[in-house]
Amino acid sequence: MRVAEWLESGGRHVWRPYCQMKTARPPLPVARTSGSRIELQDGRTLVDGIASWWTACHGYNHPHIAAAITDQLARAPHVMFGGLAHEPAYVLAQRLAALLPGDLNHVFFAESGSVSVEIAMKMAVQYWINRGVRGKTKFVSFLGGYHGDTLATMSVCDPDEGMHTLFKGVMAAQHIVPLPEDDEGEAALDRFLAEHAGEVAAIMVEPLVQGAGGMRMHRPEVLQRLRRLADKNDVLLIFDEIFTGFGRTGTMFAMQQADVVPDIVTLSKALTGGTLPLSAAIATTRVFETFWSDDPNAALMHGPTYMANPLACAAANASLDLFRTGTWRFQVAQIAAQLRAELEPCRAMPEVVDVRVLGAIGVVEMSRAVDSSSLSERFAEDGVWIRPFGRIVYLTPAFTIAPDELTMLTSAIVRFLGRRAVCAR
Ligand SMILES: Cc1ncc(COP(=O)(O)O)c(C=O)c1O
Repeated sequence: MRVAEWLESGGRHVWRPYCQMKTARPPLPVARTSGSRIELQDGRTLVDGIASWWTACHGYNHPHIAAAITDQLARAPHVMFGGLAHEPAYVLAQRLAALLPGDLNHVFFAESGSVSVEIAMKMAVQYWINRGVRGKTKFVSFLGGYHGDTLATMSVCDPDEGMHTLFKGVMAAQHIVPLPEDDEGEAALDRFLAEHAGEVAAIMVEPLVQGAGGMRMHRPEVLQRLRRLADKNDVLLIFDEIFTGFGRTGTMFAMQQADVVPDIVTLSKALTGGTLPLSAAIATTRVFETFWSDDPNAALMHGPTYMANPLACAAANASLDLFRTGTWRFQVAQIAAQLRAELEPCRAMPEVVDVRVLGAIGVVEMSRAVDSSSLSERFAEDGVWIRPFGRIVYLTPAFTIAPDELTMLTSAIVRFLGRRAVCAR
């Protein structure tokens, strides 16, 4: 079918994400991908600055991952996980437990980030129920945070800065508070928890970088403060590493920079190297043991249809093989240095309020929201794929991006932000 045909006729039926479809530009039709490049149907090639929402950490179409998926496809593309087992999932669970610090040993698979966060929330609430403690059903999460788009995960996102303001009052009420960045903040949260711990199941945070809520970064000591507060006030600690996991911040997991182990961690995004949907909520032995019982009601009653999909698990195992080489560490360090140097000129631009970098994440924060749809289209005219949101223009490229490709991305940002007023009036 010709592009114009499928794009136009299908476009009357596809409901696009995060998009006012009436006024948005049409999406760019993609023909194929390779490495850090997206080839469009009209023959243009874009250098990708986003790695498809941070998933394709090894670049697109990595032959090792592709071969693992093809091999698994011939064996068993999918079997239900209830009552049946398969090697890719059991091997992956073992490998994730070995990679994660501490005794984060018990892996529950799902198929999307949001669902793994919901499962972590259910685990936390049921942990207390199984221990015979009633009433601990709420969560403490943080301003600027983002944990997903489903109703329960929306309830722990920033209620004002996030994308869910319209739904205020519909979702469960949680306690969304400032991150404890200093002693004063820690003392304030301590006082809050002392008062509310009887109703709080867990604290939930994105460690080191609050991603989709605004790419805000905090110091590792914040995580140490949270661990202290959780222990002192008898609440669980959940790290949502869906964005930060798998090398993005310079360590395999962000939590390793703080030397802090949560009670539950969620993983997704780069888990399969950007090929297939897969996520996991992984609990420590302390949490898992409260579900290990002769009482059937103490079991975790959850089981998404496509959980632990064998193709996705085979892809994740292949992605972990690539991480085992260790090359990613140098790649991420080099990307960080290059982002720092090449985005620095933005700091002097009139509408820019901050430039920040951590690992393979480069952020230019504007004073006001930008028109994401038209900006990304203009970037595409420059040969790069960059999709700003809110006040944030950011890069999260594949770790395998070549230095000259990265320069194409940073120089497009510098050129563009320097050339004209991009913020909405
Ligand atoms: C930290 C974090 N948690 C949860 C999610 C939700 O993941 P998904 O979009 O796969 O449901 C995201 C997605 O951006 C995320 O960055």
